[in-house]
Amino acid sequence: MRILVTGGAGFIGSHTVVELLNAGYEPVIIDNFSNSNRSALAGLRQILNHDVPFYEADCNDQQALNDIFEKENFQGAIHFAAHKAVGESVAKPLMYYRNNLDSTILLLETMQQYGVPNLVFSSSCTVYGQPEHLPVTEETPRLPAQSPYGNTKAICEDIIRDTVHAGAPIKAVALRYFNPMGAHPSGLIGELPLGVPGNLVPYITQTAAGIREKLTVFGDDYDTPDGTCIRDFIHVVDLAKAHVQALRLLDSRQETSYYDIFNVGTGEGNTVLEIIRTFEEVNHVKLNYTIGPRRPGDVEKIYAQVDKVNQVMGWRAEKTLAEGLQDAWRWEQNLQKNKSIVSE
Ligand code: WQD
Repeated sequence: MRILVTGGAGFIGSHTVVELLNAGYEPVIIDNFSNSNRSALAGLRQILNHDVPFYEADCNDQQALNDIFEKENFQGAIHFAAHKAVGESVAKPLMYYRNNLDSTILLLETMQQYGVPNLVFSSSCTVYGQPEHLPVTEETPRLPAQSPYGNTKAICEDIIRDTVHAGAPIKAVALRYFNPMGAHPSGLIGELPLGVPGNLVPYITQTAAGIREKLTVFGDDYDTPDGTCIRDFIHVVDLAKAHVQALRLLDSRQETSYYDIFNVGTGEGNTVLEIIRTFEEVNHVKLNYTIGPRRPGDVEKIYAQVDKVNQVMGWRAEKTLAEGLQDAWRWEQNLQKNKSIVSE
């Protein structure tokens, strides 16, 4: 089964390509490297011992998409391609709305034009804002997003839902990721933040590698056991496997039109300081960090209730926080050893 993977050279996309192949699917990557690096393709080649079919194109390029759909006989698509930096989205909202919404609309139109039924959409727990009750379930009401980025995820969910409810021959699921982290155990693919990392784990690994002088913990005066924020950190390989299970679910649905939403997390919450301590313990390194002011827009605590994805998709996170932080560190060390991995 050929599966289009938009943004397939990215962090979660590249790990999903590995798991798709392991599960017998035939992924085809489309990526314009706006938020990824060509080196991911070389890493995939080393892991898989063959080249994954790849098109360098923009998901907003109608002609390019038509040409690819004309050539490939897709049975499904996984839509990762999007701008995803929360802070940048506040500064450049139109760039985010244009790119993230238009690419989703164009993909839906093209899938219908070529009779491609199955869609897995990359959504985010950010659509919940600061939930009143924890853990969050899929019935937890979405709150006004804390950023244009988060808003694009919520709007894209609604675009897909409304398209399906209008009777389009599309079977779709939106996967609401919690906090992806870690890397493939081979150390050959992983997170490649462009510029200064916004996310916690890559900032930790770059600090440990001496690229960053120190990590700033954004606030320790929250209403949590140690005062720092709580998140649900999920290993990227577990997250990738959830996409395979989602395709299997869609293949099994008999309806012509189907839409559902799933939280994809571990179901456990950890504080920022617990992440730091675990990273130091499992990697035998000392991290240079300081406590700073809160980061505007941060939610205090969020973690997933994962009964639905467990029961309906038969998926559960298997990797531990320790494994994720060890894999993240191995990847960072490889990056430093082989500077050439990341071709500019
Ligand atoms: C986690 C915690 C920070 C950096 C966002 C998006 C989400 C997804 C993942 C795209 C917070 C703290 C962080 C640092 C810190 N994005 N932190 N010092 O904000 O939970 O989620 O990224 O898919 O949709 O909302 O992730 O890693 O930025 O922050 O103290 O240098 O770590 O305050 O509490 P976040 P994060």
